[in-house]
Amino acid sequence: MKSTILFLVIAAMILFVPNDSAVFAQSPVAVVSIDLAQPGKSISPDLLGIFFEDINYAADGGLYAEMVQNRSFEYQATERLDWTPLTAWELVRYDGGRGSLKITDAVPLHPNNARYVVVETQQPGGGVGLANSGFDGIPIKSGEQYDFSVFARQLYTGNRWGGPGVLEGPAKLVVRLEDAERKVLGEASFEISGRDWQRLAGTITAAGTYPAARLVVLSLTRGGIALDEISLFPRKTFKGRRNGLRADLAQAIADLKPKFVRFPGGCLVHGYGLGNMYRWKDSIGPIEQRRGQPNIWGYHQSLGLGYFEYFQFCEDIGAMPLPVVPAGVCCQNADNQGGTGQRGLPLEDMPAYVQEVLDLIEWANGPANSTWGAKRVAAGHPEPFGLKYLCVGNEEHITPVFRERFKMIYDAVRAKHPEITVIGTVGPFHSGEDYEQGWKIANELRLQMVDEHYYESPQWFLNNLQRYDGYDRAKSKVYLGEYAAHESNRANTLRSALAEAAYLTSLERNGDIVRFASYAPLLARQGHTQWRPDMIYFDGDGVLLSANYYVQRMFGQNQGDIYLPATIVPAADSNQGVDNIAVSCVRDSKSGDVILKVANTGSTAQPLRIQMQGARDINSKAVKTELKGSPTAVNSFERPNLVAPQTSTVTAGNSFDNEFPAYSLTVIRFSFQ
Ligand code: AHR
Repeated sequence: MKSTILFLVIAAMILFVPNDSAVFAQSPVAVVSIDLAQPGKSISPDLLGIFFEDINYAADGGLYAEMVQNRSFEYQATERLDWTPLTAWELVRYDGGRGSLKITDAVPLHPNNARYVVVETQQPGGGVGLANSGFDGIPIKSGEQYDFSVFARQLYTGNRWGGPGVLEGPAKLVVRLEDAERKVLGEASFEISGRDWQRLAGTITAAGTYPAARLVVLSLTRGGIALDEISLFPRKTFKGRRNGLRADLAQAIADLKPKFVRFPGGCLVHGYGLGNMYRWKDSIGPIEQRRGQPNIWGYHQSLGLGYFEYFQFCEDIGAMPLPVVPAGVCCQNADNQGGTGQRGLPLEDMPAYVQEVLDLIEWANGPANSTWGAKRVAAGHPEPFGLKYLCVGNEEHITPVFRERFKMIYDAVRAKHPEITVIGTVGPFHSGEDYEQGWKIANELRLQMVDEHYYESPQWFLNNLQRYDGYDRAKSKVYLGEYAAHESNRANTLRSALAEAAYLTSLERNGDIVRFASYAPLLARQGHTQWRPDMIYFDGDGVLLSANYYVQRMFGQNQGDIYLPATIVPAADSNQGVDNIAVSCVRDSKSGDVILKVANTGSTAQPLRIQMQGARDINSKAVKTELKGSPTAVNSFERPNLVAPQTSTVTAGNSFDNEFPAYSLTVIRFSFQ
């Protein structure tokens, strides 16, 4: 009720002023009052997190630090017409070397990883083997260490005259990092002995910096060898984890201070057909035993970044894990069916599928003596991961087929794990049939939370700042799992970011019912993007932060758990109106800090008087972070800091004036003695 009144006050104050941001009123146009003596309203302490999906090469070729592309020779034409198991690889024959490459699956390393390469060397010369170009080249830095590994077996030495051939001692293998002129930037040597698959591993120290090196694996021995799972990781992954994450990208994510990480998608979860669902069990265990598969976004997912790595990342950045499992149906766009491709798993398969979901909870939280808990322990994590939430489904058509399967999963989880909150889905839009039917199911089943998604224009967000004010507090809570303001040209303009900022103030105001929110998508590799806009762009060794990222970071680093209503009234002596600013104020109970956020989406600077009532011991130095610029400004690799926040201190007190620039987001953090 209070928030509605506040809104009416703000709306009533909208007056039109000359569109000239250079003309600043000297005195405040309005007074923003916050009564710190009031208890305020409890809101979600976990409001802002991230949505991670392997879209735009966000995982393989992105956050997952593996530098070798197609490391296990599983690329195929069913993923992309021009792909083969040797995509990203090429035959190399140095200095008189004679030989060839062949792909086979005769004696696979693991049934989930069928194909491997055979290097047949008739004449070693300077070496016969294969080179990998990585993801747009392998960026290496002088003095840094890179961990190489390969599974290898010997087939024969010397000439092969039919049959298995003979072994006359080990085969020599040399592994190099090379620049485009074949200059060696580091190398390591190995010996392959015997016919059984064996893992060879070593470290290469880069002797130079090069943005697009290649990894060359050379046989120096006449004969045949088999190679699979050829891998190269930087030693410096995020937190130094083996099979870890790219440090710069992971740090950019960590800097958002997300309270949760939703993974692994998105549409990736339900997959492009029933055989393409993301099955969490395929993503754990030794990487060479994981079942990679086509990615719904048109490339290959190795699952090297799998459930263990996701949970571990959550732990590393202090975020809650929020996994999403398929609801037993596939994507409605599967098989090029444009919205009608959704199908359900056969009912006779559902009990096993439901058990798979229950197993996930046991794997995450179960004791060491449970079947799946033991696997987590064996993977190196004796403590439970503390899973509390589980999303079931993503943007499905809410059909009887969906409903039946969702309910089977929901009932089973509720019965066996009442401690887990199941989050339902209400379709891909903010309204319409799936939204309504999804909410109907939520109301019938009394779901604790549902997942809403919407991508709309900046103006839509500004027009809908009251969306959640009217939501029934007695019904399911909301997880706004995917949202973003989309310009018609899909650019990451400051205007779109500020529309999101204004909307975030409304989410804070409604943080009693909106428990989680995550911008989507998170990551996009330059030149390999299926969806725009995204929050963070990157290439081989650089990260580009969008204006939308900065808005998320400013809110993420300044979350609170108590909402303090602010009233805004025009200043008595002002002849300038207040141009539709959006304001929210929260307290962070842990630090005691109070945080004021003001999004000015208009073209006129707003000088405001801030009155902090009921606070006698406010520190005179408050930290101000401001993001401002032209509404059409877009950060690019050429101009990465066109829009970036600036931090300063302001002299605060019980009453002080501050000008909020045109097209800006300002966060002021007050501390107390
Ligand atoms: O965020 C990109 C996609 O948008 C997600 O995969 C899907 O859930 C939504 O349609």
